[in-house]
Amino acid sequence: MHKLAEGFSVSATVLFVGSIMVAGVLLHPDVAQAKTGEEIFQSGCNACHTIGGGRLVGPDLLGVSERRTEEWLVKFVQHSQAMVEAGDPVAVGLFEEHNKVTMPDQALTKAEVLAVMEYAKTPHVIGAAQPDEPVALTEEDIVLGQDLFEGSVRLSNGGPACNSCHDVTNDAVIGGGILAKELTSVFSRLGGPGVRAILGSPPFPVMQEAYKDEPLTELEVKALVGFLEQADSEQSLHQPRDYGIGLFTSGVVGSGILLAFYSLLWRRRKRSSVNQSIYDRQVKST
Ligand code: HEC
Ligand code: HEC
Repeated sequence: MHKLAEGFSVSATVLFVGSIMVAGVLLHPDVAQAKTGEEIFQSGCNACHTIGGGRLVGPDLLGVSERRTEEWLVKFVQHSQAMVEAGDPVAVGLFEEHNKVTMPDQALTKAEVLAVMEYAKTPHVIGAAQPDEPVALTEEDIVLGQDLFEGSVRLSNGGPACNSCHDVTNDAVIGGGILAKELTSVFSRLGGPGVRAILGSPPFPVMQEAYKDEPLTELEVKALVGFLEQADSEQSLHQPRDYGIGLFTSGVVGSGILLAFYSLLWRRRKRSSVNQSIYDRQVKST
């Protein structure tokens, strides 16, 4: 009797633990197929970071786990802006140091972040990082970049024109969208290699989706980077396309001029009604 009860409770325990494990796997399907640190880095981080290749858009991640605690790293990768806004001194410092470029929140689990940090313990110079060597650009490349940006020349793989989402201050370009950031000074903020890396594999979900099946070609990236560089260096020569109060004022003044012109044109018009003069005559004669 005693033995039987013991046997029962052991098998119940085994069953219980077993079902928790099964439930755990079912609830977290990514546990079974967790991506390796390398895969995560290659698909989500290398547009902005290198491991041992120097600063790109963000800092070189080589050995970052020696600089920061695990807890800080996980929090930062998942919600960097929240930390900046909360005033975390290290996060604020990094944000300032990197020209206030926002690192997009990464939908990664703690284990995944730590896997990337593990991967970043040794140098891997295979990312999208490219040396910051001056790229030879012709005037035609820059004009092509501008046409591609505003969509007057179609991207060869059929992706959407940049100005459906972005604007840039340049007299030659039709005003663009406001879904995403204004790109006039993006070149100084991110640097040539940064912009090139972003266009090569966009790290922003919306932009990624837009070019997933329709990637930019190498020539297009080169031309667009050239155009953005020029837009940046020449921005003081161009007027921002914000017509604002100016447009309103010229509308008011313009319609005033038109009205004055009309009254001049029909200055001999009858000013009161015909009935009025008959009425006045009648009133006078009585
Ligand atoms: C769009 C560019 C971009 C992408 C994509 C990106 N980061 Fe960042 N990252 C930055 C910038 C910029 C900073 C500097 C802090 C800031 O500006 O907020 C940074 C900072 C960091 C830091 C802090 C480094 C330090 O010295 O403390 C870590 C860690 C980090 N990123 C990890 C990642 C990981 C992991 C991924 C991919 C899953 C990733 N980042 C993707 C731009 C990016
Ligand atoms: C479907 C909309 C969409 C299109 C089309 C698009 N982008 Fe973006 N882009 C975004 C979003 C969203 C971001 C994330 C930053 C933000 O919120 O502005 C971004 C970010 C960027 C950044 C980094 C800006 C920064 O300061 O961090 C660059 C550079 C950029 N895009 C260039 C381009 C170029 C060049 C094209 C045309 C080939 C293009 N984008 C087309 C939506 C788009």
